Amino acid sequence: MQENNKARQQLFEELEERKHQEVEEALRASEGRYRLLFERNLDAYAFHKIIVDEHNKPIDYVFLEINENFEKFTGLKRDDVIGNRVTTIIPGIENAEPDLISLYGEVALNEGQKRFDLYFQPFEKWYNVSVYSPEKGYFVVLFEDITERKRISEELEQQVEKRTHELKESLEKLRKTQDQLIVQEKLASLGTITAGIAHEIKNPLNFINNYAELCEEFLLECEQKIDQQNNKIDLVCKKEIAESFENLKHSTKVISEHGKRIERIIRSMLLHSGGKKGEREPTDLNCLLHEYANLSYHGVRAQHFSFSAAIDNDFDDSIGLIDTIPQNLGQVFLNIFNNAFDALLKKLETRESKFIPKLWLVTKNFGEHVKIRIKDNGIGIPEDIASQIFLPFYTTKPPGQGTGLGLSISHEIIVQHGGKIQVNTKEGEYTEFIITLPKYC
Ligand SMILES: Nc1ncnc2c1ncn2[C@@H]1O[C@H](COP(=O)(O)OP(=O)(O)OP(=O)(O)O)[C@@H](O)[C@H]1O
Ligand SMILES: [Mg+2]
Repeated sequence: MQENNKARQQLFEELEERKHQEVEEALRASEGRYRLLFERNLDAYAFHKIIVDEHNKPIDYVFLEINENFEKFTGLKRDDVIGNRVTTIIPGIENAEPDLISLYGEVALNEGQKRFDLYFQPFEKWYNVSVYSPEKGYFVVLFEDITERKRISEELEQQVEKRTHELKESLEKLRKTQDQLIVQEKLASLGTITAGIAHEIKNPLNFINNYAELCEEFLLECEQKIDQQNNKIDLVCKKEIAESFENLKHSTKVISEHGKRIERIIRSMLLHSGGKKGEREPTDLNCLLHEYANLSYHGVRAQHFSFSAAIDNDFDDSIGLIDTIPQNLGQVFLNIFNNAFDALLKKLETRESKFIPKLWLVTKNFGEHVKIRIKDNGIGIPEDIASQIFLPFYTTKPPGQGTGLGLSISHEIIVQHGGKIQVNTKEGEYTEFIITLPKYC
Protein backbone atom coordinates (compact mmCIF):
# COMPACT_ATOMS: atom_id res chain seq x y z
CA MET A 1 0.00 0.00 0.00
CA GLN A 2 2.80 2.32 0.94
CA GLU A 3 4.64 1.33 -2.27
CA ASN A 4 1.52 2.03 -4.26
CA ASN A 5 1.31 5.51 -2.81
CA LYS A 6 4.98 6.17 -3.63
CA ALA A 7 4.55 5.02 -7.20
CA ARG A 8 1.48 7.23 -7.57
CA GLN A 9 3.36 10.17 -6.09
CA GLN A 10 6.25 9.56 -8.54
CA LEU A 11 3.87 9.35 -11.48
CA PHE A 12 2.19 12.55 -10.38
CA GLU A 13 5.55 14.32 -10.10
CA GLU A 14 6.61 13.05 -13.52
CA LEU A 15 3.34 14.29 -15.00
CA GLU A 16 3.81 17.65 -13.27
CA GLU A 17 7.39 17.86 -14.57
CA ARG A 18 6.31 17.04 -18.14
CA LYS A 19 3.49 19.56 -17.94
CA HIS A 20 5.92 22.20 -16.69
CA GLN A 21 8.33 21.41 -19.53
CA GLU A 22 5.49 21.69 -22.08
CA VAL A 23 4.37 25.03 -20.68
CA GLU A 24 7.96 26.31 -20.71
CA GLU A 25 8.40 25.15 -24.30
CA ALA A 26 5.17 26.82 -25.31
CA LEU A 27 6.30 29.99 -23.55
CA ARG A 28 9.71 29.89 -25.24
CA ALA A 29 8.03 29.36 -28.64
CA SER A 30 5.65 32.27 -28.13
CA GLU A 31 8.47 34.54 -26.84
CA GLY A 32 10.47 33.61 -29.95
CA ARG A 33 7.48 34.46 -32.09
CA TYR A 34 7.02 37.81 -30.35
CA ARG A 35 10.75 38.60 -30.60
CA LEU A 36 10.64 37.76 -34.30
CA LEU A 37 7.65 40.05 -34.67
CA PHE A 38 9.43 42.72 -32.66
CA GLU A 39 12.66 42.33 -34.64
CA ARG A 40 10.95 42.23 -37.98
CA ASN A 41 8.79 45.23 -37.23
CA LEU A 42 9.12 47.57 -40.21
CA ASP A 43 9.48 50.49 -37.84
CA ALA A 44 12.47 51.07 -35.65
CA TYR A 45 11.56 50.40 -32.05
CA ALA A 46 13.15 51.58 -28.86
CA PHE A 47 11.97 51.24 -25.27
CA HIS A 48 13.25 53.78 -22.76
CA LYS A 49 13.11 54.92 -19.18
CA ILE A 50 12.97 58.66 -18.61
CA ILE A 51 15.35 60.27 -16.10
CA VAL A 52 14.18 63.34 -14.21
CA ASP A 53 15.91 65.86 -11.91
CA GLU A 54 14.82 66.74 -8.36
CA HIS A 55 12.03 68.96 -9.77
CA ASN A 56 10.69 66.09 -11.84
CA LYS A 57 11.99 67.75 -15.00
CA PRO A 58 13.04 65.26 -17.72
CA ILE A 59 16.83 65.58 -18.28
CA ASP A 60 17.79 62.34 -20.03
CA TYR A 61 16.58 58.84 -20.92
CA VAL A 62 18.06 55.36 -20.90
CA PHE A 63 17.71 52.75 -23.67
CA LEU A 64 16.22 49.50 -22.35
CA GLU A 65 15.48 47.71 -25.62
CA ILE A 66 15.83 48.28 -29.38
CA ASN A 67 15.11 46.22 -32.51
CA GLU A 68 17.16 45.55 -35.64
CA ASN A 69 15.57 48.37 -37.61
CA PHE A 70 16.60 50.79 -34.91
CA GLU A 71 20.22 49.82 -35.62
CA LYS A 72 19.59 50.05 -39.34
CA PHE A 73 17.84 53.42 -39.28
CA THR A 74 20.18 55.12 -36.83
CA GLY A 75 23.49 53.37 -37.47
CA LEU A 76 23.81 52.84 -33.66
CA LYS A 77 24.82 49.41 -32.37
CA ARG A 78 22.81 47.48 -29.80
CA ASP A 79 25.82 46.94 -27.49
CA ASP A 80 26.60 50.67 -27.44
CA VAL A 81 23.00 51.60 -26.74
CA ILE A 82 21.34 49.26 -24.24
CA GLY A 83 21.62 50.49 -20.66
CA ASN A 84 23.13 53.81 -21.71
CA ARG A 85 21.85 57.36 -21.55
CA VAL A 86 20.94 59.17 -24.75
CA THR A 87 23.14 62.17 -23.82
CA THR A 88 26.14 59.79 -23.79
CA ILE A 89 25.20 58.07 -27.04
CA ILE A 90 24.28 61.23 -28.96
CA PRO A 91 26.20 64.09 -27.30
CA GLY A 92 24.51 67.48 -27.71
CA ILE A 93 21.00 65.99 -28.12
CA GLU A 94 19.87 68.06 -25.13
CA ASN A 95 20.40 71.21 -27.23
CA ALA A 96 18.94 69.86 -30.48
CA GLU A 97 15.76 71.21 -32.04
CA PRO A 98 13.12 70.02 -31.27
CA ASP A 99 13.95 69.29 -27.62
CA LEU A 100 13.34 65.51 -27.72
CA ILE A 101 14.08 64.89 -24.04
CA SER A 102 11.31 67.27 -22.93
CA LEU A 103 8.97 66.03 -25.62
CA TYR A 104 9.44 62.33 -24.75
CA GLY A 105 9.53 63.20 -21.05
CA GLU A 106 6.09 64.78 -21.25
CA VAL A 107 4.67 61.63 -22.91
CA ALA A 108 6.43 59.31 -20.39
CA LEU A 109 5.29 61.23 -17.32
CA ASN A 110 1.71 61.66 -18.48
CA GLU A 111 1.35 58.17 -20.00
CA GLY A 112 0.36 59.94 -23.22
CA GLN A 113 1.14 59.57 -26.88
CA LYS A 114 2.27 61.72 -29.84
CA ARG A 115 2.98 61.44 -33.53
CA PHE A 116 5.06 63.82 -35.68
CA ASP A 117 7.61 64.17 -38.48
CA LEU A 118 11.07 65.03 -37.30
CA TYR A 119 14.24 66.14 -39.01
CA PHE A 120 16.97 64.75 -36.82
CA GLN A 121 20.00 66.95 -37.40
CA PRO A 122 22.65 64.62 -35.85
CA PHE A 123 21.79 61.86 -38.38
CA GLU A 124 20.64 64.30 -41.12
CA LYS A 125 17.50 62.23 -41.59
CA TRP A 126 13.74 62.63 -41.57
CA TYR A 127 11.71 60.30 -39.32
CA ASN A 128 8.02 59.75 -38.81
CA VAL A 129 7.84 59.25 -35.06
CA SER A 130 5.16 57.69 -32.84
CA VAL A 131 5.81 57.84 -29.12
CA TYR A 132 3.64 56.38 -26.37
CA SER A 133 4.00 55.50 -22.75
CA PRO A 134 2.94 51.97 -21.65
CA GLU A 135 3.75 52.80 -18.01
CA LYS A 136 4.50 56.01 -16.12
CA GLY A 137 8.19 56.89 -16.49
CA TYR A 138 8.69 54.64 -19.53
CA PHE A 139 8.14 55.28 -23.21
CA VAL A 140 8.31 53.48 -26.52
CA VAL A 141 9.43 55.24 -29.69
CA LEU A 142 8.45 53.75 -33.03
CA PHE A 143 9.89 55.49 -36.04
CA GLU A 144 10.21 55.11 -39.71
CA ASP A 145 12.98 56.57 -41.90
CA ILE A 146 11.09 58.85 -44.34
CA THR A 147 14.13 60.72 -45.70
CA GLU A 148 13.69 59.21 -49.17
CA ARG A 149 9.92 59.79 -49.13
CA LYS A 150 10.49 63.43 -48.10
CA ARG A 151 13.09 63.85 -50.84
CA ILE A 152 10.68 62.45 -53.44
CA SER A 153 7.80 64.56 -52.19
CA GLU A 154 10.02 67.66 -52.18
CA GLU A 155 11.13 66.81 -55.70
CA LEU A 156 7.49 66.35 -56.66
CA GLU A 157 6.58 69.65 -55.05
CA GLN A 158 9.37 71.34 -57.00
CA GLN A 159 8.18 69.70 -60.19
CA VAL A 160 4.59 70.77 -59.50
CA GLU A 161 5.82 74.31 -58.79
CA LYS A 162 7.85 74.33 -61.99
CA ARG A 163 4.92 72.98 -63.96
CA THR A 164 2.56 75.54 -62.38
CA HIS A 165 5.02 78.27 -63.29
CA GLU A 166 5.21 76.99 -66.87
CA LEU A 167 1.42 76.81 -67.03
CA LYS A 168 1.13 80.36 -65.72
CA GLU A 169 3.59 81.52 -68.37
CA SER A 170 1.71 79.80 -71.18
CA LEU A 171 -1.55 81.24 -69.86
CA GLU A 172 0.05 84.69 -69.89
CA LYS A 173 1.27 84.11 -73.46
CA LEU A 174 -2.18 82.92 -74.42
CA ARG A 175 -3.75 86.04 -72.92
CA LYS A 176 -1.28 88.25 -74.79
CA THR A 177 -1.98 86.41 -78.05
CA GLN A 178 -5.71 86.79 -77.42
CA ASP A 179 -5.28 90.53 -76.82
CA GLN A 180 -3.19 90.80 -79.97
CA LEU A 181 -5.85 88.95 -81.91
CA ILE A 182 -8.52 91.33 -80.63
CA VAL A 183 -6.28 94.25 -81.58
CA GLN A 184 -5.67 92.84 -85.06
CA GLU A 185 -9.37 92.15 -85.39
CA LYS A 186 -10.17 95.74 -84.45
CA LEU A 187 -7.55 97.07 -86.84
CA ALA A 188 -8.85 94.84 -89.59
CA SER A 189 -12.53 95.68 -89.05
CA LEU A 190 -11.77 99.39 -88.70
CA GLY A 191 -9.78 99.15 -91.91
CA THR A 192 -12.60 97.39 -93.73
CA ILE A 193 -15.23 99.85 -92.53
CA THR A 194 -13.05 102.84 -93.38
CA ALA A 195 -12.19 101.47 -96.80
CA GLY A 196 -15.88 100.70 -97.47
CA ILE A 197 -17.05 104.17 -96.50
CA ALA A 198 -14.24 105.84 -98.42
CA HIS A 199 -15.10 103.93 -101.61
CA GLU A 200 -18.80 104.73 -101.21
CA ILE A 201 -18.08 108.44 -100.86
CA LYS A 202 -15.55 108.47 -103.67
CA ASN A 203 -18.09 108.02 -106.50
CA PRO A 204 -20.53 110.84 -105.65
CA LEU A 205 -17.51 112.98 -104.80
CA ASN A 206 -16.10 112.44 -108.28
CA PHE A 207 -19.41 113.73 -109.67
CA ILE A 208 -19.26 116.79 -107.44
CA ASN A 209 -15.66 117.58 -108.38
CA ASN A 210 -16.13 116.94 -112.10
CA TYR A 211 -19.39 118.90 -112.28
CA ALA A 212 -17.87 121.75 -110.30
CA GLU A 213 -15.12 121.96 -112.92
CA LEU A 214 -17.71 121.78 -115.72
CA CYS A 215 -19.71 124.56 -114.04
CA GLU A 216 -16.61 126.76 -114.05
CA GLU A 217 -16.14 126.10 -117.76
CA PHE A 218 -19.86 126.76 -118.54
CA LEU A 219 -19.66 130.00 -116.62
CA LEU A 220 -16.67 131.10 -118.67
CA GLU A 221 -18.52 130.22 -121.87
CA CYS A 222 -21.63 132.13 -120.72
CA GLU A 223 -19.50 135.12 -119.81
CA GLN A 224 -17.92 135.16 -123.27
CA LYS A 225 -21.32 134.85 -124.99
CA ILE A 226 -22.77 137.71 -122.95
CA ASP A 227 -19.70 139.79 -123.78
CA GLN A 228 -20.41 139.22 -127.45
CA GLN A 229 -24.00 140.51 -126.91
CA ASN A 230 -22.64 143.45 -124.99
CA ASN A 231 -24.47 146.16 -127.04
CA LYS A 232 -27.88 144.51 -126.71
CA ILE A 233 -28.00 144.49 -122.93
CA ASP A 234 -28.73 147.61 -120.98
CA LEU A 235 -26.32 148.80 -118.31
CA VAL A 236 -28.41 147.92 -115.23
CA CYS A 237 -29.05 144.41 -116.46
CA LYS A 238 -25.39 144.04 -117.40
CA LYS A 239 -24.36 144.97 -113.87
CA GLU A 240 -26.80 142.48 -112.33
CA ILE A 241 -25.62 139.70 -114.65
CA ALA A 242 -21.99 140.46 -113.77
CA GLU A 243 -22.80 140.25 -110.02
CA SER A 244 -24.61 136.93 -110.47
CA PHE A 245 -21.67 135.62 -112.43
CA GLU A 246 -19.29 136.63 -109.67
CA ASN A 247 -21.46 134.86 -107.08
CA LEU A 248 -21.74 131.76 -109.23
CA LYS A 249 -18.01 131.72 -109.83
CA HIS A 250 -17.33 132.07 -106.14
CA SER A 251 -19.78 129.27 -105.27
CA THR A 252 -18.35 126.84 -107.80
CA LYS A 253 -14.85 127.68 -106.57
CA VAL A 254 -15.87 126.89 -102.97
CA ILE A 255 -17.56 123.63 -104.09
CA SER A 256 -14.46 122.69 -106.07
CA GLU A 257 -12.04 123.56 -103.22
CA HIS A 258 -13.98 121.65 -100.60
CA GLY A 259 -14.53 118.74 -102.97
CA LYS A 260 -10.74 118.53 -103.36
CA ARG A 261 -10.35 118.63 -99.62
CA ILE A 262 -12.78 115.75 -99.18
CA GLU A 263 -10.80 113.90 -101.83
CA ARG A 264 -7.60 114.36 -99.80
CA ILE A 265 -9.37 113.14 -96.65
CA ILE A 266 -10.69 110.10 -98.50
CA ARG A 267 -7.20 109.36 -99.76
CA SER A 268 -5.92 109.47 -96.17
CA MET A 269 -8.76 107.22 -95.05
CA LEU A 270 -7.92 104.70 -97.71
CA LEU A 271 -4.25 104.87 -96.82
CA HIS A 272 -5.10 104.44 -93.15
CA SER A 273 -7.43 101.52 -93.85
CA GLY A 274 -4.40 99.74 -95.26
CA GLY A 275 -4.58 98.70 -98.87
CA LYS A 276 -1.19 97.05 -98.40
CA LYS A 277 -1.16 95.31 -95.04
CA GLY A 278 1.79 95.24 -92.72
CA GLU A 279 4.48 96.34 -95.18
CA ARG A 280 7.25 98.62 -94.10
CA GLU A 281 8.14 101.44 -96.42
CA PRO A 282 10.20 104.63 -96.27
CA THR A 283 7.89 107.15 -94.64
CA ASP A 284 7.96 110.90 -94.23
CA LEU A 285 7.05 111.05 -90.56
CA ASN A 286 6.45 114.80 -90.45
CA CYS A 287 4.09 114.56 -93.40
CA LEU A 288 2.23 111.60 -91.85
CA LEU A 289 1.79 113.48 -88.57
CA HIS A 290 0.54 116.59 -90.32
CA GLU A 291 -1.85 114.59 -92.49
CA TYR A 292 -3.39 112.69 -89.55
CA ALA A 293 -3.59 115.78 -87.35
CA ASN A 294 -5.67 117.38 -90.12
CA LEU A 295 -7.77 114.29 -90.62
CA SER A 296 -8.60 114.11 -86.93
CA TYR A 297 -9.14 117.88 -86.60
CA HIS A 298 -11.58 117.97 -89.51
CA GLY A 299 -13.32 114.90 -88.14
CA VAL A 300 -13.91 116.70 -84.84
CA ARG A 301 -14.96 119.94 -86.54
CA ALA A 302 -17.51 118.07 -88.62
CA GLN A 303 -19.27 117.20 -85.36
CA HIS A 304 -18.51 120.37 -83.36
CA PHE A 305 -18.80 123.24 -85.84
CA SER A 306 -17.70 125.96 -83.46
CA PHE A 307 -14.63 124.06 -82.22
CA SER A 308 -11.26 125.36 -83.20
CA ALA A 309 -7.77 124.62 -81.90
CA ALA A 310 -4.33 126.05 -82.56
CA ILE A 311 -2.03 123.38 -83.93
CA ASP A 312 1.61 124.22 -83.43
CA ASN A 313 4.13 122.23 -85.50
CA ASP A 314 7.83 122.02 -84.74
CA PHE A 315 9.14 119.44 -87.20
CA ASP A 316 12.77 118.40 -87.54
CA ASP A 317 13.39 118.18 -91.30
CA SER A 318 16.65 116.25 -90.82
CA ILE A 319 14.64 113.14 -89.93
CA GLY A 320 14.32 112.14 -93.58
CA LEU A 321 12.49 108.95 -94.49
CA ILE A 322 12.22 106.23 -91.87
CA ASP A 323 11.04 102.64 -92.21
CA THR A 324 7.49 102.26 -90.89
CA ILE A 325 4.16 100.68 -91.70
CA PRO A 326 2.51 104.03 -92.47
CA GLN A 327 -1.12 102.97 -92.20
CA ASN A 328 -0.47 101.46 -88.74
CA LEU A 329 1.52 104.43 -87.53
CA GLY A 330 -1.22 106.68 -88.94
CA GLN A 331 -3.68 104.76 -86.79
CA VAL A 332 -1.54 105.54 -83.72
CA PHE A 333 -1.46 109.26 -84.51
CA LEU A 334 -5.18 109.28 -85.22
CA ASN A 335 -5.93 107.63 -81.84
CA ILE A 336 -3.73 110.12 -79.99
CA PHE A 337 -5.14 113.14 -81.85
CA ASN A 338 -8.73 111.97 -81.34
CA ASN A 339 -8.05 111.57 -77.61
CA ALA A 340 -6.38 114.99 -77.51
CA PHE A 341 -9.32 116.71 -79.20
CA ASP A 342 -11.72 114.89 -76.84
CA ALA A 343 -9.70 116.24 -73.90
CA LEU A 344 -9.74 119.79 -75.35
CA LEU A 345 -13.50 119.63 -75.93
CA LYS A 346 -14.08 118.41 -72.39
CA LYS A 347 -12.00 121.26 -70.99
CA LEU A 348 -13.92 123.75 -73.13
CA GLU A 349 -17.16 122.52 -71.55
CA THR A 350 -15.92 123.41 -68.09
CA ARG A 351 -13.60 126.40 -68.68
CA GLU A 352 -14.30 130.05 -69.11
CA SER A 353 -13.87 131.64 -72.56
CA LYS A 354 -10.21 132.53 -71.89
CA PHE A 355 -9.13 128.97 -72.56
CA ILE A 356 -7.49 128.43 -75.96
CA PRO A 357 -7.35 124.76 -77.02
CA LYS A 358 -3.88 123.93 -78.28
CA LEU A 359 -2.00 121.03 -79.76
CA TRP A 360 1.78 120.83 -80.11
CA LEU A 361 3.44 118.44 -82.54
CA VAL A 362 7.20 118.09 -82.23
CA THR A 363 9.61 115.74 -83.99
CA LYS A 364 13.31 115.45 -83.25
CA ASN A 365 16.13 113.52 -84.87
CA PHE A 366 18.44 111.66 -82.48
CA GLY A 367 20.51 109.84 -85.11
CA GLU A 368 19.62 106.21 -84.42
CA HIS A 369 16.09 107.08 -83.36
CA VAL A 370 13.48 109.79 -83.56
CA LYS A 371 11.17 111.25 -80.92
CA ILE A 372 7.65 112.43 -81.55
CA ARG A 373 5.86 114.54 -78.96
CA ILE A 374 2.13 115.18 -79.12
CA LYS A 375 0.88 117.49 -76.41
CA ASP A 376 -2.53 118.98 -75.66
CA ASN A 377 -3.57 121.45 -72.99
CA GLY A 378 -6.79 119.52 -72.31
CA ILE A 379 -8.16 118.04 -69.09
CA GLY A 380 -5.08 115.87 -68.38
CA ILE A 381 -5.19 112.45 -66.78
CA PRO A 382 -5.50 111.77 -63.02
CA GLU A 383 -2.40 110.05 -61.60
CA ASP A 384 -4.16 106.81 -60.63
CA ILE A 385 -5.60 106.43 -64.14
CA ALA A 386 -2.43 107.26 -66.12
CA SER A 387 -0.91 103.84 -65.48
CA GLN A 388 -3.96 102.07 -66.94
CA ILE A 389 -4.61 103.92 -70.17
CA PHE A 390 -2.58 101.49 -72.29
CA LEU A 391 -4.57 98.50 -71.00
CA PRO A 392 -6.98 96.96 -73.50
CA PHE A 393 -10.59 98.07 -72.99
CA TYR A 394 -9.66 100.76 -70.45
CA THR A 395 -11.85 103.78 -71.06
CA THR A 396 -13.31 106.63 -69.07
CA LYS A 397 -15.84 107.35 -71.79
CA PRO A 398 -19.53 106.53 -71.23
CA PRO A 399 -20.65 103.08 -72.43
CA GLY A 400 -20.99 102.91 -76.19
CA GLN A 401 -18.73 105.91 -76.82
CA GLY A 402 -15.26 104.40 -76.55
CA THR A 403 -13.91 100.90 -76.85
CA GLY A 404 -10.84 101.67 -74.75
CA LEU A 405 -8.75 99.98 -77.42
CA GLY A 406 -7.27 103.11 -79.00
CA LEU A 407 -4.16 103.39 -76.84
CA SER A 408 -3.66 99.68 -76.37
CA ILE A 409 -3.60 99.24 -80.15
CA SER A 410 -1.27 102.22 -80.42
CA HIS A 411 1.06 100.72 -77.84
CA GLU A 412 0.98 97.42 -79.73
CA ILE A 413 1.83 99.11 -83.03
CA ILE A 414 4.69 101.13 -81.55
CA VAL A 415 6.16 97.98 -79.96
CA GLN A 416 5.71 96.27 -83.36
CA HIS A 417 7.91 99.06 -84.78
CA GLY A 418 10.56 98.39 -82.10
CA GLY A 419 9.75 101.65 -80.33
CA LYS A 420 8.11 102.78 -77.12
CA ILE A 421 5.34 105.11 -76.06
CA GLN A 422 5.13 107.04 -72.79
CA VAL A 423 2.76 109.55 -71.30
CA ASN A 424 3.42 112.69 -69.25
CA THR A 425 0.40 114.37 -67.84
CA LYS A 426 -0.93 116.72 -65.20
CA GLU A 427 -4.57 116.61 -64.26
CA GLY A 428 -6.39 119.71 -65.47
CA GLU A 429 -3.29 121.02 -67.31
CA TYR A 430 -1.91 118.88 -70.13
CA THR A 431 -1.23 115.43 -71.61
CA GLU A 432 1.84 114.64 -73.64
CA PHE A 433 2.56 111.40 -75.50
CA ILE A 434 6.21 110.74 -76.34
CA ILE A 435 6.89 108.15 -79.00
CA THR A 436 10.41 106.90 -79.63
CA LEU A 437 10.99 105.06 -82.91
CA PRO A 438 14.16 103.46 -84.24
CA LYS A 439 15.10 104.94 -87.62
CA TYR A 440 16.20 101.65 -89.09
CA CYS A 441 14.45 98.35 -88.46
N1 LIG B 1 -5.00 113.29 -74.29
C1 LIG B 1 -5.72 112.77 -73.29
N2 LIG B 1 -6.23 113.57 -72.33
C2 LIG B 1 -6.97 113.04 -71.30
N3 LIG B 1 -7.25 111.72 -71.16
C3 LIG B 1 -6.77 110.89 -72.10
C4 LIG B 1 -5.99 111.35 -73.22
N4 LIG B 1 -5.65 110.28 -73.96
C5 LIG B 1 -6.20 109.20 -73.35
N5 LIG B 1 -6.88 109.55 -72.25
C6 LIG B 1 -7.58 108.63 -71.32
O1 LIG B 1 -7.22 107.30 -71.65
C7 LIG B 1 -8.38 106.51 -71.84
C8 LIG B 1 -8.06 105.39 -72.82
O2 LIG B 1 -7.85 105.91 -74.10
P1 LIG B 1 -8.10 105.00 -75.37
O3 LIG B 1 -7.80 105.80 -76.58
O4 LIG B 1 -7.36 103.72 -75.20
O5 LIG B 1 -9.62 104.63 -75.29
P2 LIG B 1 -10.87 105.59 -75.50
O6 LIG B 1 -10.44 106.86 -76.15
O7 LIG B 1 -11.59 105.70 -74.21
O8 LIG B 1 -11.74 104.73 -76.50
P3 LIG B 1 -11.56 104.63 -78.11
O9 LIG B 1 -10.17 105.10 -78.40
O10 LIG B 1 -11.77 103.21 -78.42
O11 LIG B 1 -12.60 105.54 -78.63
C9 LIG B 1 -9.44 107.47 -72.28
O12 LIG B 1 -10.73 106.97 -71.98
C10 LIG B 1 -9.09 108.71 -71.44
O13 LIG B 1 -9.61 108.59 -70.13
MG1 LIG C 1 -9.16 106.85 -77.87
